[in-house]
Amino acid sequence: MAHDLEQTAKALVAEGKGILAADESDGTIKKRFDSIGVESTEDNRRAYRELLFRTEGAEEFISGVILFDETIRQSAGDGTPFPKLLESRGVIPGIKVDKGAKPLANAEGETITEGLDGLRDRLNEYRELGARFTKWRATYSIGSGLPSEYCVWVNAHALARYAALSQEAGLVPIVEPEVLMDGDHSIERSFEVTSRVQHAVFTELRDQRVEPEGMLLKPNMVLAGYDSGGEASPDEVAKWTLKCLSRHVPAAVPGIVFLSGGQTDETATANLNAMNASGPHPWQLSFSYGRALQAPALKAWGGKAESVEDAQKAYYRRAKFNGAARTGSYAPDMETAGV
Ligand code: 13P
Repeated sequence: MAHDLEQTAKALVAEGKGILAADESDGTIKKRFDSIGVESTEDNRRAYRELLFRTEGAEEFISGVILFDETIRQSAGDGTPFPKLLESRGVIPGIKVDKGAKPLANAEGETITEGLDGLRDRLNEYRELGARFTKWRATYSIGSGLPSEYCVWVNAHALARYAALSQEAGLVPIVEPEVLMDGDHSIERSFEVTSRVQHAVFTELRDQRVEPEGMLLKPNMVLAGYDSGGEASPDEVAKWTLKCLSRHVPAAVPGIVFLSGGQTDETATANLNAMNASGPHPWQLSFSYGRALQAPALKAWGGKAESVEDAQKAYYRRAKFNGAARTGSYAPDMETAGV
C-alpha cells in the first residue's frame, strides 16, 4: 500500500507535468459561470468539464485532475464516466473531499475546514469510483493579529486527520494550507505567516503518522498582498517561497504543487518557472492550478458549443506553458508566439 501511494505521488509530479484543479464547488463554479454569463446548470457544468478533459494532447502536461463530488459521478456525452475517460488518457483522477471553510467559533474573521465526520466511508466510495488521490483545503487570512495560533493549529490538526485517513484508504492526500493573499501585507509578512502555517502542518502530519513519501503539499506561493501596491518579481517570489519551503517541508515529500490563488495565469506560470530555474530542489516543484489553467478557456468558451475548440486551444496553451515552467524553460515571449 505504502509503495502504491509513493508511486501515485511520484506520477502526479512526473517531469514536465502538473495537476488541473477542476474541483470547484457548486458556489465557486457558479461564480465562474456568472463571469461569462452562463447559467450554472448540471448539464453546463458537465459540458464544460468534458471540454477540458477531452482536450487533445493536454495529457502531455497534465498528470492528474481534481474532481468535485458531482463531477466524479458524471459521464461524457458518449456515456463514459469521467474517471474512466481521464484514465484512458493516462490522467489520474482525484477528488476534493473537504466540505468547505466555515466560520471558526470564537475567532472573528477566521475559518475551519469541515468534512471529517464520515470521511472514512466517503474515501472508500471515492476509491471505488476511480479516485487515486484527494485534496483538502484550509484557508488563513492575513490581517491585524491574524491568523491566530488557534486558527493555525486547528486547521493543521484537521489537515493531518484528513491526510491520515486518506493514506489509510490508499489515496494520496494533497494537503492544501492556503494563506490568502488578499490585503496590503508585505512579502516579508506573507513569508512569516506561511512559515508558521507550514510549521504547524508538518508538526501535525508527523504526530499523526502521515508518511511524507505518500503525500503532496499544495501551498500558496509567498507573494506581497494583492492590495500592497507592488507585485514582487518572479525572482523575489521564488526566493521567499523557497526559503519558506526549505525550512519546513521534509525532503521525503516527493512534490509541491502550488495553487494559483488569484494570480493572473501568466504570473502564476512565470513564478513557477523562476523557482524551477533556480533548481535542483529536494522536491519536484509543480502546479495544481484552477483559475490559472482555466481562465482563458472559460472566457473563450462562453457557454457556446461552437467555441469548444477555441476553449480547448486556450487550455492546451496554459497547460503547455506550465509544463515548460516545470523545467524552468518558460519565457514570457512564448505567450505571443503561436502554439
Ligand atoms: P486556484 O489555482 O484557482 O487557486 O485553485 C486551486 C485550488 O484547487 C484551490 O483549492
